[in-house]
Amino acid sequence: MPDVRTNPDQPAAPVHNEIRRLDYRPPDWLVPQIGLRFTLGDEHTRVQTKLLVARNPAGDQSETLRLNGDEITPAGVWIDGEVTDAWRMDGPDLLIDLPGDRHEIGIETKLNPAANTKLMGLYASNGMLCTQCEAEGFRRITFFPDRPDVLSKYRVHMEGDKALFPVLLSNGNRVASGELEGGRHWAEWEDPFPKPCYLFALVAGDLVANNDRFTTMSGREVELNIYVRDGDVPKTGHAMQALKDSMAWDERVYGREYDLDLFNIVAVSDFNMGAMENKGLNIFNTRYILADAETATDADFDNVAGVVAHEYFHNWSGNRVTCRDWFQLSLKEGFTVFRDQGFSADHGSAAVKRIEDVKMLRAAQFPEDQGPLAHPVRPDSYIEISNFYTATIYNKGAELIRMFHTVLGAEKFRAGTDLYFERHDGEAATCDDFVKALEDASGVDLSAFKVWYSQAGTPKVAARLEQDGERATLHLTQAVAPTPGQPVKQPMPIPLKTALLAADGSGEIVGERLILLDKAEDQVRIEGVNEPAILSINRGFSAPILLDVQRGAGELEQLAANDTDPFARYEAIQEMMLRVLIAGAEGKNVDPEPVVQAVRNTLQSNALDAWFKGEAILPPSEGIIGDRMMDVDPDAIHVARDALRETLGRELEQELADAQAGGAAGIDLSPNGKGARRLRSVALGLIAAGDPARGAALAKAQFDAADNMTDRQGAMTTLVSLDAPERAEALQAFYHRFKDDALVLDKWFGLQAAAQRSDGVEQVKALLEHPDFTLQNPNRFRAVVGSFGVNQWVFHRATGEGYRLMADMIITVDALNPQVAARQVPVLGRWKRFEPKRAALMRAELERILAAPKLSKDTFEQVSKSLA
Ligand code: PHE
Ligand code: ZN
Repeated sequence: MPDVRTNPDQPAAPVHNEIRRLDYRPPDWLVPQIGLRFTLGDEHTRVQTKLLVARNPAGDQSETLRLNGDEITPAGVWIDGEVTDAWRMDGPDLLIDLPGDRHEIGIETKLNPAANTKLMGLYASNGMLCTQCEAEGFRRITFFPDRPDVLSKYRVHMEGDKALFPVLLSNGNRVASGELEGGRHWAEWEDPFPKPCYLFALVAGDLVANNDRFTTMSGREVELNIYVRDGDVPKTGHAMQALKDSMAWDERVYGREYDLDLFNIVAVSDFNMGAMENKGLNIFNTRYILADAETATDADFDNVAGVVAHEYFHNWSGNRVTCRDWFQLSLKEGFTVFRDQGFSADHGSAAVKRIEDVKMLRAAQFPEDQGPLAHPVRPDSYIEISNFYTATIYNKGAELIRMFHTVLGAEKFRAGTDLYFERHDGEAATCDDFVKALEDASGVDLSAFKVWYSQAGTPKVAARLEQDGERATLHLTQAVAPTPGQPVKQPMPIPLKTALLAADGSGEIVGERLILLDKAEDQVRIEGVNEPAILSINRGFSAPILLDVQRGAGELEQLAANDTDPFARYEAIQEMMLRVLIAGAEGKNVDPEPVVQAVRNTLQSNALDAWFKGEAILPPSEGIIGDRMMDVDPDAIHVARDALRETLGRELEQELADAQAGGAAGIDLSPNGKGARRLRSVALGLIAAGDPARGAALAKAQFDAADNMTDRQGAMTTLVSLDAPERAEALQAFYHRFKDDALVLDKWFGLQAAAQRSDGVEQVKALLEHPDFTLQNPNRFRAVVGSFGVNQWVFHRATGEGYRLMADMIITVDALNPQVAARQVPVLGRWKRFEPKRAALMRAELERILAAPKLSKDTFEQVSKSLA
C-alpha cells in the first residue's frame, strides 16, 4: 500500500498506510464467542481473553489468524488450552498459525489504565475505570480482529477492590456476582446480542445511579440507570426524561422497541467525544448528561436530550444493524443524526431546530467541503479512521437521509426503514444496503441519489424565475467545485421545495411543490401564475446546497416579511444581512436601512415567536461571512459585522430594549421560555454594539438578576467582549461561584476564548496559564483552544501569533492525546481560503507541525492532507 508521505527526506518517520474502501475483504476468521476476565487496578489491570475462533467459509482459507493490537504485548498465548509459543508479532498485531477450522485461543495482556492519556481502550478518569473502543480502541485492551464485521457474543468477568470499584458494569445483563477475600468483589455480565468489539464497554467505579423504569410497547419492563459521581444525581433528571422520551419516540415513529431488560448510562468527565452507544451501556461525556437550571443553559439542556436520544437510537441504527466497515460510518451516524433531529424537532420548536441544524451544517460541514479535508459521505480511503468522525459523515449524512425522506414521503420512508431493520438485523451492512431497502419497500428508484454518498463538495445552484404573462419558467443550473481526488464532478439530484409568493405580500400564488434538479441545467415551467411572483426555493433547506438566486429589487425584503415557510423567512433575513456584510467587507457601501427595517418588522411581528426572532435577527457569524468570500480578510469582515451590529443597536434601541426586558424569566423549558431567553441575550448583544456603556450596565444587571445559566451566560457573552469595569466583576463573580464545577468552569474558559477583543490572543495565552487549565481533560482543552480556533478575528490576527499558538498547542497535546490534537488541525488547514499573507503564515505553521518528532498518525494525516 502506498505511503502518502510526500516528502521523501524524512525516512525516520513512520510510514502510515492508507486503507481503501475497495480493498474490503470478508474476514478470514470469525469469533462467535469471546470471554473476558478483568482483574482491575488503576495502574495494573490483567486481561485474560478466550476467543472461540472459526474459519470463515467466505474468507481466504488462510492458516494464519491475525489479531490486531495497539501498544499491548501478549503475556501468554494458549491454543485449545495448551500454552504455546507458536505465535509471532507483525508490528502491533499478533499472528497465530492454526491447523484446524475451530480453535479456542487464550491470551493474556497487562494494562496500565492510569497511564492511558489517549482515552482509547481502558483508561482511568477521576478514580474510575472505563473503556472507549470505537473505532479501534478494543485492540488496546486485548488482541482481536478489530473490525466491525466480526460479531461475537460476550461474557465478561470482572473483579476488583470493592471500596475503589463498588460498581462493576459491562454490556447486557449481570448474570452473577459475589464477594471475595481482602475486600474484593466480582461480577459477571453477558450480552445475548452478538456485537462488534467497538461496542464493548466496561466501567468500574464509585458511582451512584438515578434509577427508573420504562415499559415498552409490548409490555416489557426495562430498568434504567444513569450512573454519575456522588452528588451529581440531582443533575440527571433531564437526561432520564430524555431517555424515556426517546424510547417512546422510537417505538412511535420507527416501530423500534428496546431489546434488553436493562439500559445503563455512565457519565465520565474525561472523554474524547460526546458519547458512545455501547450495547446496553452507553458512556457519556458528563457535559451531555448533567444539567440543572443553575449550571446548564437552554442549549445545554437541548444538547443533553439530543445526545441521549442519539445514543439510544443507535441501539437499532448502529448496534442491531451495524456497519460492514468504517467506510460505511455514515450508515449509522448520518441516519442516527437524522433520527435525533426528528426527535428534537418533535419535542421543541421544529422551525428553530431546523435553523439550528442548518447553522451547524454551514458552520462545520460547508467549510470541510471547501477545504483540503473534503471527503464524501462514504469516503474512499483513510489513514486514521478517528479523523472521519466529521460533520460530513454526521451532518451531511443526515441531510442525505433527509432528502430520501423528502423524496419518498414519511410513509414510504418508514416502510423502507422497517425493511432495512428486518432484513439486516444482526448483520454488518453497507450504505448500499440501506438505499436498497428504501427502494424495495417504496418501489422508487433512488439510484441517482447514490452520487451523494460518493461525491464530495457542496453543489452550487443558481436559480432565476422568468415571468411572461401567466407563464413562469424557473431556470436552474448546478455545479460542484473540484475537491481533492475528485477533479471532475457529476450533476447531483437536488430536491428543491419551491413555492411562488405574491409580490404584493398577499401570500402564495403557487403552493409548495418538490422540484428535482438532476441535470447540470434545467428549466421548469410553472403554470397558473397570474400575478407578479417571487421565488421561494430550497424551503426548509430541502437540499444541502449553496444557492444563488437572481432577484429583483425588494424581493428578499418581501420574503423576509412574508414567506410562509419559517426557514425561508429566516434565510431571507440572513441573506439580506449577508449582502450588506459582504459588500462592507469588500469596502463597498451598501445601505443597511432595509436590514434595519427587516429586523424591526421581525421584532414587532405578532405572528413570530421569540425563539425564531432571536435566531433571525442575529447577524451571520464572521466565519459564515468568510465562507462566502475569496481571499478572506478577517479584519475587514470584523469591521463590517461590527458596523452592522452597531447600526442595528442604535437604530432599534427601543425595540431591542423591549425584547431584552420582555418575556418570562426563570427556568421554564418550554419553547416560549427558551425563546424569551434567547431573544433577551441576542438583543443585549446588539444593544451593546450600539452603546457599549449602556450594554455593559444592562448586561451586568442581567447577570446579577439571573436565576438561570442561560441569562447568566448570555450576559457574560456580551460582557467578555467589552472594555468596561463590569466585565472583570462578572468574570470574577462567576469564577468564585462555579470554580468547583468543571462543566461550568469550562464555560468560563470558553466564553473568554471566544471573546471578540483586540487583545484576544493574549487573553487566550493567559487562560492557558491559569491554574485551572489542563491539557489532559478534552473538555477543558476544547473550551479554550477549540473556542479560540473558531474565533475568526482573534485567531487570524495578521501577525500570525494565533497560528503559532495553535500549532504549539497541537504539537503539545498530540503527544498526550492524538485525537484531540488532530481535531484542531482543520482551522489551520483552510489556509488557501485566506488572503496571501495569512495563508503563508498558516502554511508555515502546518509545516512546523509536520516536522515535529513522533507525530501521531491522526495529526499526520490531517496536516499532510492540508499541505497537499
Ligand atoms: N459513535 C459515537 C456517536 O456518534 C461517537 C464516538 C465515536 C464516540 C468514537 C467515541 C469514539 O454517538
Ligand atoms: Zn452516533
